[in-house]
Parts: sequence; C-alpha cells; structure tokens
Amino acid sequence: MAGGFVSQTPGVRNYNYKLTPKVFVTCFIGAFGGLIFGYDLGISGGVTQMEPFLEEFFPYVHKKMKNAHENEYCRFDSQLLTLFTSSLYLAALVSSLFASTITRAFGRKWSMFLGGLTFFIGSAFNGFAQNIAMLLIGRILLGFGVGFANQSVPVYLSEMAPPNLRGAFNNGFQVAIIFGIVVATIINYFTAQIKGNMGWRISLGLACVPAMMIMIGALVLPDTPNSLIERGFTEDAKKMLQSIRGTSEVDEEFQDLIDASEESKQVKHPWKNIMLPRYRPQLIMTCFIPFFQQLTGINVITFYAPVLFQTLGFGSKASLLSAMVTGIIELLCTFVSVFTVDRFGRRVLFLQGGIQMLISQIAIGVMIGVKFGTVGTGNIGKTDANLIVALICIYVAGFAWSWGPLGWLVPSEISPLEIRSAAQAINVAVNMFFTFLVAQLFLTMLCHMKFGLFFFFAVFVFIMTIFIYLMLPETKNVPIEEMNRVWKAHWFWGRFIPDEAVGVSAAEMQQKSV
Ligand code: BGC
Repeated sequence: MAGGFVSQTPGVRNYNYKLTPKVFVTCFIGAFGGLIFGYDLGISGGVTQMEPFLEEFFPYVHKKMKNAHENEYCRFDSQLLTLFTSSLYLAALVSSLFASTITRAFGRKWSMFLGGLTFFIGSAFNGFAQNIAMLLIGRILLGFGVGFANQSVPVYLSEMAPPNLRGAFNNGFQVAIIFGIVVATIINYFTAQIKGNMGWRISLGLACVPAMMIMIGALVLPDTPNSLIERGFTEDAKKMLQSIRGTSEVDEEFQDLIDASEESKQVKHPWKNIMLPRYRPQLIMTCFIPFFQQLTGINVITFYAPVLFQTLGFGSKASLLSAMVTGIIELLCTFVSVFTVDRFGRRVLFLQGGIQMLISQIAIGVMIGVKFGTVGTGNIGKTDANLIVALICIYVAGFAWSWGPLGWLVPSEISPLEIRSAAQAINVAVNMFFTFLVAQLFLTMLCHMKFGLFFFFAVFVFIMTIFIYLMLPETKNVPIEEMNRVWKAHWFWGRFIPDEAVGVSAAEMQQKSV
C-alpha cells in the first residue's frame, strides 16, 4: 500500500511510507496482548452462572438464586459474587502503575512478557482452585497480567505503526480483546453443559493459552524505535526504524524521535511532570476517555448479557447464545473502525457511534420500562424480547466502531514521549477503576434503578459526545512525536502548550491555520 498522506494540522510533517510485512507481522503479534483481557472479560460472567462453581465457592449465593424469584430486576444481585469478577480490575489498576516504570526503563516488550507470565500463573491457580483463597490469588495474578499488557500494548502498537495507519494497527488491540471475549463465550457455552466441576475448571484454566501466546509473542518481538532511543540505543533504533518503514530514508522521522527523546531526558519524574500545565490536555484526556468509555455502560453487556437476557425471560441456553451473537456483532463491527479510522478520523467515529448508542439506549430503557414497569414483574412477548436484543446489537455496534477501539487508541497516541508511559498507566488505571465500579454495582443498580439504568448511561453518552465534539482535536495521520502541534492548534488547549514544545511561534501557527 502506498504511504503518503495529507495532514490537516498546520506545521505537522508528512512522512511517506509503505506498509511493510515486518510492521504488519510485528503489530499482529503485538496485538495478542488484548487476548488475555478479552478472554477474562468473556469467561467470568459465564463461569459465575455455572451451578457447580457456585455450589463449590459461593453456596449462599447459589441457594439465594434458586429460591428468590419475586423481582426480575433483583434476581442476581450479590456483592460477593460480583467481587469475584471485579477484584481482577483492582489488581490491574495497581499493576498498571508499576508497569509504567518497566515500560519506560526496560522497553515495551518486557511489560508485555510480564503480563503474559503473571496471567499464566493466575490461570493455573484458577483452573486448579481448591478453595476460595486459591481462586482469589489467581484472580489477582490475572489482574496483574492485564494491567501490564494494557499499559504496554497500545503504546507499542502506536509507536510501531506508520503514522498514516496508526489507527488501524492500534485497533488490532481491540479486535484481539473482542476475539478473546467471543472465544471465551463459546467455550463457556460448551463447558456449561459438563456436569460437575470440570466445566468451570476448563473455562478458567484455558486462560493459559492466550497467556502463552503473549509470552512467546513478546519474546520474539523487537522493541519500538522510540523506546530504543529513550534507552540510549540510538543506532539500533535507526536500523529498526528503517526496517519497519521499509526504506533507508527515515531521517526526518528519526530526527523527530531524537528530538522527542532529548526533551524526554529533561524529565526525570514523569509522574510529577504530567501535572504541569503544559501536559494538561493529555492529562484530562487520559482521565476522561477511559472514564467515559466505561460509562457508556458497555460492560453491562460484556459481563451480564446472559443475565440480562435471562431477565428478559430467555432460557439459560438461549441467553448464552444471544450473548454469543452480540459478541460476534461486536467483533465484526470493530473492523469498521479498523478500515475507516485513518480515513474518516477519530472524531467522526466517536460522534457517530455516540449518537447511535444514545438512541438505542433510550429505546431499550423505554421498552423494558413499558414491559416490566417499576415493580419488575411481568412477561415479555417473543417479538418484544427479540426487538430488545436487536436494539442491544445496534448499541453494541455503535460502541464497537467508536468508544471501544478509540478508548485505547487515542490515549496511547496523544502524549509526548516523556509522559507517554505514565499517561498510559493513568488511562489503564482509570479504565480499570470504572470497570470495577460498573461490574460491582451493576446488579445492585439494576435492582434499584430498574429500567432507569439505561437512561443513566444514556445521559453519560450524551455528555461524552459533546465533550468529544468540543475538546478532542483530530489526530489521524499525525506522527506520534508531532502531536504537540495538534494541541497547540486547538481553540481551547492551545493556551497550555508552550511555543518551544512545537518549535513554531504561536503567531506562525495562527497564520498557518487561517
Ligand atoms: C473495554 C472493555 C470492554 C471491551 C469489550 C474494551 O475496549 O475497555 O471494558 O469490555 O472493550 O466491549
């Protein structure tokens, strides 16, 4: 594919690159990092519905579920059980903060490797769990793995990719997440039919497969030129850049990387520095994007689709099947983003996806409200239930080409090198914290807010869409080490970026943008 692109931001350089097999294979393997996160997201909801698993570890919950049927909205409300699911995200939050130091000091690939290793050990603890302690230790190790992988992989992909295809390559991470979810859902569908404890053991134990893939992947992957320069391997970095770009003419980009690294060396404490006013736009975005991504309410579907479908009156097998269908739709629709994100840009997808999610959430809320009312009793006909499933699919599709992949892409590409690792750690930590909150609170919220829950998330989707419209500049096609210019040209954020950070005077920027 021929390189070449036209950047819209004044002062941003244009590099001319081809897509090389090396960068394709490297990013393909790098994207495996999303598999462990996805597998876990997909496996937990199904396992916590398996009776033998509940009988073994949560007998009280099991008994309660069997007996209580008076209110559809409250059928599955149990803090203890959700704590099992959500504990992982707290562990991931903590480890992403450590991962940032490793990613900066030793390179992106070693964080990925550590992620795979801890996830592998965690899967063994879980698969062979004899008591709740083993189960929880396993969960925490899995969480460490996810934190390391999510902190390093999006940055790795964004740095390796040619600027004009960065969106597509980075979206590989989200494709891997959803692929992991779908495979896990299918595995659960079959293991749920196995009598006794073997079913959940297989489901949890098979997490070792994606863990091995990322471990082996990380061992064979080269490190990014940006990271090699950051760690003083300037010659190796140049060779790496030439080989992934497929040309010896990389001087301009190489110089940008060197400049970025020089600037980065002035910064001894990325955590302290990220608080400086000049990094305000990146700090705000790395906090708000993951927060908003979780407040789309997507994980209500990811974790609880089978529960939601059972609440709608589907049998347990039909519920699992419907969850599989929504997963497959999410996977297919993520490719829409892969193929359009570098052409239409991030903003168009964010805005279109936001509006689509908003409309479908309101419609779902209205339908469930009309059918179940506030009491939570009542019956829903087959046609209406199918209509709700269709609306859920439309909602999931909107997420799949907007906030899903872009929630990982944008934070990984907007920060200068000196704060990139720290910023990505904040992104993961905020994401995990709100994943935890939604996972932990959803069933209680459903029990108390009833169909209003869908309106609750719709309000956030409305706010985030306005936020993107006003505050996020377009970053498509902009080389990663030139991103300061995009902020400098923005109507609001421009005031935070000092002139020397872009090497152009403010007057010049103004003139160019006219
Ligand atoms: C989000 C997850 C979500 C997944 C699948 C990811 O981008 O971070 O929270 O479960 O997409 O929808």
